Amino acid sequence: MRSERSLTQQTWSALRATLIGCGLAEPLLRRGLLGLEETRRRLALRHLPAGGHGLEIGALHCPLPLPSGARARYVDRHGAQELRQLRADAGASIVVPDLLADGFTLGCIANASQDFVVANHVLEHAVDALGTLEHWLRVLRPGGLLFVAVPIGERCFDRGRAVTPPQHFLDDRRLTAAGDSAAMRERNRTHVEEHLDIAAPALARERGASWTPLRDEAREREIARLLGADASQIHHHVFTPESFAALLGLLGPAARIERVACSSVEIVGIARKAA
Ligand SMILES: C[S@@+](CC[C@H](N)C(=O)[O-])C[C@H]1O[C@@H](n2cnc3c(N)ncnc32)[C@H](O)[C@@H]1O
Repeated sequence: MRSERSLTQQTWSALRATLIGCGLAEPLLRRGLLGLEETRRRLALRHLPAGGHGLEIGALHCPLPLPSGARARYVDRHGAQELRQLRADAGASIVVPDLLADGFTLGCIANASQDFVVANHVLEHAVDALGTLEHWLRVLRPGGLLFVAVPIGERCFDRGRAVTPPQHFLDDRRLTAAGDSAAMRERNRTHVEEHLDIAAPALARERGASWTPLRDEAREREIARLLGADASQIHHHVFTPESFAALLGLLGPAARIERVACSSVEIVGIARKAA
């Protein structure tokens, strides 16, 4: 039997489809009332360059639709088989990465070589989000486009975690550039603890799985794992639309923010590299 909630959702989906059919998509988009896929699709087709060549980092199972003639190379730190194991919830339709690389630094990509960089639900996994945005800008040609989506903290399993303030991003950038790994480890430990105390149990609930809090040595082992090679498995930073716009603003004159739009669950930021 269908639940009351799913009936409400179905009614809203049907109403939304009717409103889109009546040409009311743009007002719905401006108010953040379109679903995630429809919002991404509309923004991508409007802002990404037709015929452009670029990168999408961490597409996993939902590559961004591209305008006509545009082509993306897919970058991930894991190969397809590993992704299928790590993210069984993503289903069978995982995008096979063209490049296995650290998408936060893109060390194998030449400066000013790309027409666009797309990264949806990836930036919140970076320990140095501002530095990561700077690397993405580095590989864009002048006038190239950055398309980045992050989850709204309050609408995902991060609900209850503190929103990351702009100064935190500046401090992460400074400490990372200075190579102060001890200070970064301390800061990241706070994120891992928030993940274990708030996000991981909520995620388990979302997936209908059981959750047993880890204690003592087992907890310390998990913290060490998530501070090490598996650091990008958790959300290090938590966003609101305002805080995400503030982070993009920290790029300064190197980029012009073209749009910050919301769907029901995420914020999409679109910025153009200065010419
Ligand atoms: C949460 S999934 C995002 C999936 C999809 N783009 C979406 O919008 O839902 C994060 C993806 O980014 C990849 N990823 C995380 N950190 C990465 C890194 N440092 N370099 C490259 N890929 C990374 C993960 O392997 C995964 O495929």
